[in-house]
Amino acid sequence: MSATYSEQAPAKINLFLHVTGKRDDGYHLLESLVCFTSVGDVLTGELREDGVITLNITGPMGKALTHEDTNDNLVMQAARMLQNETGTDLGADLTLDKRLPVASGIGGGSADAAAAIRLLCDMWKLDLDHQALSRIALSLGADVPVCLHGQTCLMSGIGDELTDLADLPPIPMLLINPGKAVSTPEIFKAREDEAFSQSGLWDTRQQFNSGAALADALSECGNDLTLSATSILPEICDVLNALAREEGCLLARMSGSGATCFGIYDTSEQAEQAANAIAQSYPDWWISATETLCQQARTLSNIGASFPD
Ligand code: C5P
Repeated sequence: MSATYSEQAPAKINLFLHVTGKRDDGYHLLESLVCFTSVGDVLTGELREDGVITLNITGPMGKALTHEDTNDNLVMQAARMLQNETGTDLGADLTLDKRLPVASGIGGGSADAAAAIRLLCDMWKLDLDHQALSRIALSLGADVPVCLHGQTCLMSGIGDELTDLADLPPIPMLLINPGKAVSTPEIFKAREDEAFSQSGLWDTRQQFNSGAALADALSECGNDLTLSATSILPEICDVLNALAREEGCLLARMSGSGATCFGIYDTSEQAEQAANAIAQSYPDWWISATETLCQQARTLSNIGASFPD
């Protein structure tokens, strides 16, 4: 029986996101504190010797991708790029268990692409250096490098410059998506007339030991895409209000270009209570009580996740 490989694709959360400038090629310069959560997609795969790559998409959010050509999926693009780069004649049968809403500001496709790179480097025994991996990741999308990195960090440049920060402890978080996809380029375009934020506002030496301490520091920052996102999709305001109304929410904010928003709590009981209360009023929303992923948990889950039979 062939070995089965597995990789987590954790949701990426922009705890704050400042737009600090724009390049001549149209890409925006960002500064963003990024962390990951224990909720995410899961990519599994089995080795093929014939070079063929297949992708089967399952999971609760998989149906949102049924109208798309599987060949266009970022997982397939990542796999083909690794084949071209290395000349390997190996292939893979991949299965993506899609649990995160698509086009929702929490990395989804980027996290899947990063998981594909990790999984196939392991499965195909590829020995690509950091520079080559970063180049491949960035060519797949501005959020793929940070998802490949997979650790709490300050992201700058267009998403390609990553500064490691002290790891966060597991901080209770509630993620909510109103069930409507948003287009990232459209959101960036809609903020064309807005001013840029100053860069260097975040003190990278800070360490946090609780949700309250993190929320307090984050209150000095914001998400510069919120105004344009809410003008395109007003439901995002409903999500932010629903989060802020429930007891225990220390900070409610949109992630990335939306529409997913997060709340920060001191205890997981508070996050779960808020999740239950909001689900009663909005049964169609995607609601996930989770926590920030700390490096130790990630290492442990990966040990358990890669299991040659
Ligand atoms: O790189 P990715 O495909 O994720 O980006 C989608 C779109 O978002 C880009 O085509 C661009 O319009 C916008 N974007 C940007 N600046 C960034 C990241 C994305 O303007 N740093």
